[in-house]
Amino acid sequence: MFAAAIDGPAGAGKSSVAREAAKRLGFVYVDTGALYRTVALYLLDQGVPLRDSQRVAAALPGVQVGLEYGEEGQRMRLNGQDVTGRIRTPEVSMATSAVAAIPAVRAFLLGLQRQLARENNVLMDGRDIGTVVLPQAQLKVFLTASPEERARRRVRQLEESGQPADPAEVLREIRQRDLQDSTRETAPLKPAPDGVLLDTSGLTFQESVESLIGLVRERM
Ligand code: DC
Repeated sequence: MFAAAIDGPAGAGKSSVAREAAKRLGFVYVDTGALYRTVALYLLDQGVPLRDSQRVAAALPGVQVGLEYGEEGQRMRLNGQDVTGRIRTPEVSMATSAVAAIPAVRAFLLGLQRQLARENNVLMDGRDIGTVVLPQAQLKVFLTASPEERARRRVRQLEESGQPADPAEVLREIRQRDLQDSTRETAPLKPAPDGVLLDTSGLTFQESVESLIGLVRERM
């Protein structure tokens, strides 16, 4: 089996680039953020206080996370129910950020992620895949773009969906989140020492996909 770890900050285009590259390679694209989101949704539904790590840990045995891979990609199940749509709300995004900082949650999802890589050729997208989840991955990519470029893309996205945005404010938020993600105690976001940096700042989407596919092919 071949495993590529794709880590990097939010807003760098990681998931869309990795999804397209996986499709063209015939690999499974694993979105690990969706696993954390599914756990967070359960905790929200149950009314568990998200910053109480003991209560969160005690609730985890009640969570059964299921994945399915079909035509339209990865679908998530929570205790048998399809929650693919429900995990994408802003409320769940906020909750996930808190929940992902709890060591018991990260440990809970570790086995599932490793099992997926044992059974499939994967492009696995996350924050700590190359450093913690798959330290033996044949390829580790830190996919990023400059804060300014990520802010520009985000502003464009917001404008396209009819929400005007203040570019300076968006950039400030991105810098703030980068700082939070890279300085948190559990699994901080950082490039693996033996990884390859893929900076998509000056690249189009197609060029980014080609670069990633090239890196995989070099190592197959
Ligand atoms: O990639 P995403 O936006 O779906 O991630 C949701 C949250 O989960 C985000 O706060 C980062 C966190 N996350 C993580 O800590 N580790 C991962 N492997 C994937 C996501």
